[in-house]
Amino acid sequence: DSHNLAKRKEVRKSLRVKVISMGNPEVGKSCLIKRYCEKRFVHKYMATIGIDYGVTKVHVRDREVKVNIFDMAGHPFFYEVRNEFYKDTQGALLVFDVGSRDSFDALDGWLAEMRHEMGPHGSPDDVLVVVCANKVETGRRRVVDDSEGRLWAESRGFLYFETSAQTGEGVGEMFQTLFAAIVELCDNGGRRPTPAVTVGFTKEQADAIRRIRNSRDCWEMLGLKPGANRDEINKAYRKLAVLLHPDKSVAPGSEDAFKAIVNARTVLLRSSD
Ligand code: GTP
Ligand code: MG
Repeated sequence: DSHNLAKRKEVRKSLRVKVISMGNPEVGKSCLIKRYCEKRFVHKYMATIGIDYGVTKVHVRDREVKVNIFDMAGHPFFYEVRNEFYKDTQGALLVFDVGSRDSFDALDGWLAEMRHEMGPHGSPDDVLVVVCANKVETGRRRVVDDSEGRLWAESRGFLYFETSAQTGEGVGEMFQTLFAAIVELCDNGGRRPTPAVTVGFTKEQADAIRRIRNSRDCWEMLGLKPGANRDEINKAYRKLAVLLHPDKSVAPGSEDAFKAIVNARTVLLRSSD
């Protein structure tokens, strides 16, 4: 009946999205979120411990959007806590302080962390990133100017906003633009399919690829202790080769991982002669 129809229509229109915040400690990630959600500003610095979670409802055109915000701690100490929250993200606030060159230089590192932590299932290219040049109120010392920040962001296809969590400047516009862009992405089918549909490979394969990608040397790549003998090298190699042979594995990154272990084995055997 018409009641159910209306209800179904509403369900279709409502959307759940996930947004994360990234950037060095003290750049103002939590304050930007607080400014938007609670319309207030706190001067005293209270470092986020690990991760803060909040939900807010917003409207984009005729859609009601439930936004889950995961506000990450910028301090390296909390890497272990925040790293698992990168997955299944549609939007990311990438924040720096216009008065801190370091915080601007760190942006590439934050992108790399996101790329790395999303793992083989997610694609960072599907994440809408908004770069926030924060603390722009007049009279405050500034070392990264508008054009430098904007160029960095736009050359990577990111949104760019100048913001101040203190005065509220740019904050509402920044969030609203991000949410609108996310909704558009979802409507265009940009939403990643759920892993259950796409997975044609095992967790063991995915984990091996990830480990190989992250390893610092050939020993680590084959999962060996430095100085292992030829037998051990060959055995470890064979096990991985069976797992990752491009003819057998459809896991993304198999081919590169396979090449890497072939190379690692060659290098190690040569040096153990
Ligand atoms: P972590 O949680 O440690 O990663 O830091 P954060 O990025 O969340 O920083 P937070 O939002 O806690 O703000 C850090 C400090 O900067 C606080 O003292 C804030 O009051 C101050 N701050 C945040 N935004 C602004 C701003 O727009 N202008 C000025 N002047 N100060 C700000
Ligand atoms: Mg914080």
